[in-house]
Amino acid sequence: MDIKKIVKVTSAVGGIIFIVIQSIQPNRENPLFDPTMTMQADLKMPANIGQLLERGCKDCHSDQTTWPFYSYIAPVSWLVSHDVMEGRKNFNMSEWGKYKPGKKIQKLTGIYEALSDRSMPLPKYIPLHPAANFSDAERDTLARWAQSQAEKMLGGE
Ligand code: HEC
Repeated sequence: MDIKKIVKVTSAVGGIIFIVIQSIQPNRENPLFDPTMTMQADLKMPANIGQLLERGCKDCHSDQTTWPFYSYIAPVSWLVSHDVMEGRKNFNMSEWGKYKPGKKIQKLTGIYEALSDRSMPLPKYIPLHPAANFSDAERDTLARWAQSQAEKMLGGE
């Protein structure tokens, strides 16, 4: 076979595989949740804190995910869904009210740590979501708030 033919056959096969994998749709469900059980309702946070969580965290840590267009195109869709499902499993703002006090303290400390070591918002999420590109001051504000909430709960309030 000459090189042109190889390129043609390869792209045809690639195209067919691409079309076939589109039928494998990942989970993009936004489950119904109880608005009285959200982190926002439970912790009565200041508006700026709510906005930071909304801008940087809610797509992967709540049941109110905004699914981007590429979450409909395999194989990227599988990766996006995986991150959201894993994110929700670790910490879900829509289910917050159901957590026991110890778990809340653990999550708040985790939020503080994740912001401080810059592991969250997930770095790969930021280029396509500029609103999640927190300034140092914003990162610090959210981190300190989480820490102060954890301390408040540890103090038994
Ligand atoms: C693109 C999706 C995505 C975004 C956006 C995101 N996270 Fe995550 N988060 C994950 C995933 C996936 C995990 C679990 C795997 C891991 O730890 O890397 C996780 C884990 C965590 C954990 C660890 C939970 C535990 O039990 O220790 C914390 C805390 C956390 N995220 C906080 C945040 C905060 C705060 C934000 C916003 C500033 C945020 N995340 C934004 C996907 C995301």
